[in-house]
Amino acid sequence: MNKLEISGIEKRYGDLGAINGVDLTVKEGELLAVLGPSGCGKSTLLSIIAGITEADAGRIVLDGELMSDSAVRGFVSPEKRNIGFVFQNYALWPHMNVEKNIAYPLKIRKRKRAVIELEVDRILSLMRLEHKRSSFPGQLSGGEQQRVALGRALIMNPGLLLLDEPLSSLDAGLRVEMQAEIRSIQKELGLTVIHVTHDQAEAMAMADRIAVMNRGRLEQIGEPSIIYEQPATAFTADFMGTNNLIKGFIDVSGGRRIFRNGGTISLGIPEGAEAANGAGLCIIRPEDIEINPSHDSPCLGAFEAVIESRIYRGAHFLYKIRACAEELKVQTHSSEIFDTGSSVYCVVRRCRFLPEH
Ligand SMILES: Nc1ncnc2c1ncn2[C@@H]1O[C@H](COP(=O)(O)OP(=O)(O)O)[C@@H](O)[C@H]1O
Ligand SMILES: [Mg+2]
Repeated sequence: MNKLEISGIEKRYGDLGAINGVDLTVKEGELLAVLGPSGCGKSTLLSIIAGITEADAGRIVLDGELMSDSAVRGFVSPEKRNIGFVFQNYALWPHMNVEKNIAYPLKIRKRKRAVIELEVDRILSLMRLEHKRSSFPGQLSGGEQQRVALGRALIMNPGLLLLDEPLSSLDAGLRVEMQAEIRSIQKELGLTVIHVTHDQAEAMAMADRIAVMNRGRLEQIGEPSIIYEQPATAFTADFMGTNNLIKGFIDVSGGRRIFRNGGTISLGIPEGAEAANGAGLCIIRPEDIEINPSHDSPCLGAFEAVIESRIYRGAHFLYKIRACAEELKVQTHSSEIFDTGSSVYCVVRRCRFLPEH
């Protein structure tokens, strides 16, 4: 069942289109990561879903109920939507201790004291914060503040939880720990979560599906492995990490299936791979280029290059190589070592081709 269905969402700030037509469906019990660079509209989208910001156009349906529809001017106010929100800066009340911060949503809804006490105890235990119940936010670490903010969002048993870059101010080790913790709480409680992040590794580690966002639009939605291995656009390929993007020309005429970059790189396009005649992009992951010291058997797809730099990464080396005007990243096992300045031959094991827009 679909938990959330949004369609045709648009939001302008003066001349700027912050959200430019977003359609999105979130399934019950799934963790969807919305991934994109700073300023692409992630927070605006969350805020529209929560009802804090009103969209200029579009429709939002939560649990089969209409929350807003610009066409019929319907609008359910934020406090009537069963949605929990964790803001990027946590937005904890500095003058309230942990217990009071977590109890706040129930208190303003005037729940009975005994109910509030029970619920606060449940959340303190879930978030492993029992020993901090009387501390104030200023006395807590970043990770503990983050757990208080999450606890405060969870105490209402929200049908949908919106997390706006909740881990971005934590240091690297704690961030990885909290990624696992949020994922495990989400699974335990069967929560539906939209998790906003600009960190592709975080999205890959946590999400059931990733929606890649660029300039107020969704570029691609899919499982992490699909987004990583089969990026549908140059933006996604570039944003998902260290992909090499080579501009060139695709020739699929007269029995030929070749990509050329105008330099020394010419690659055979495998049968079955979609490719249209004309200007195109070749996308190669660093681990899909093989470096050879010599050119044993000439084959289409082998090209000459020079090693420009080498970085040791433990299990592998990351090389920068130059083939004519093209600088490429290559990842090899650390048993294969090539010196800076040496000439090598490269073979592309796997790549994808996209028409250039
Ligand atoms: N209240 C506002 N007034 C004017 N412009 C805004 C407002 N909120 C956001 N924007 C602009 O809309 C764009 C998207 O912002 P935001 O949703 O915060 O991006 P993200 O969360 O992806 O970094 C940005 O260019 C931002 O400057
Ligand atoms: Mg933001």
